[in-house]
Amino acid sequence: MKGVILAGGAGTRLRPATCVLNKHLLPIGPYPLILFVIGQLKRAGITDLLLVTGKDDLGDFAAFLGSGEAYGVSLTYRVQERPAGIADALRLAQPFTGREKFVAVLGDNLFEDDLTPWIQAFAQEGPGARVLLKAVPDPRPYGVAEVRDGRIVSLEEKPACPKSAFCVTGIYLFDEQVYAIIADLAPSPRGEFEITDVNRQYLARGQLRYGILSGWWIDAGTPEALWEANRRFAERALSLHL
Ligand code: DAU
Repeated sequence: MKGVILAGGAGTRLRPATCVLNKHLLPIGPYPLILFVIGQLKRAGITDLLLVTGKDDLGDFAAFLGSGEAYGVSLTYRVQERPAGIADALRLAQPFTGREKFVAVLGDNLFEDDLTPWIQAFAQEGPGARVLLKAVPDPRPYGVAEVRDGRIVSLEEKPACPKSAFCVTGIYLFDEQVYAIIADLAPSPRGEFEITDVNRQYLARGQLRYGILSGWWIDAGTPEALWEANRRFAERALSLHL
């Protein structure tokens, strides 16, 4: 299976650190954030990777990662013209993944679990998508899944009053239907093509499954979360897997 890493976006919540440097190149210990996602995919046997980022940052990624050879992976790059949302970035993966199922990971997500079992199970499943959930103390900044009787029954992006504690992490397993779904999407009120709207379409088709991460999970998109990630790294709870 191929992997797609989304590493565009404006990194607004980490300014001024992200004024000239892409969020995913900020350090955890001495290692730029992006290496942790690459390591997690490699750990799961996914070494054919597409990295999507903005036009101002592509040169930095290419200068740092090159072909991926130094890390035992093969990297292909695509440019997202403007930060128009996660689903907009994902759209660019179509020529790379074609008709195959694939795993997409947000480049700022750090987690403990080994993805191998989820990826292997997804490869055997029928058509559809799978999201990985994590119960968090405050799910309001995230996509939130309401789960009943072993099924997701609703999905909301950044709800003021979350219906559950289950955050939808930035680890997604999709089949080729994702591209037709994205092509039909309208931008959200904040002007972005939302990944939650994509997953809602799978839910409406009765084709959205889920798993629950058992280890810790961090969205390193804020100063506090980046600090937390550095703390875990210093305590050796966060490993590079490269
Ligand atoms: O981390 C999990 C959460 O990520 C999910 O629970 C939410 O449903 C999902 O919308 C997302 O929320 P964030 O507010 O954290 O999204 P953010 O704008 O920080 O973007 C996350 C990653 O997606 C970031 O690492 C880079 C990539 N991205 C984002 C945008 C807006 C792109 O590649 N292009 C983009 O245009």
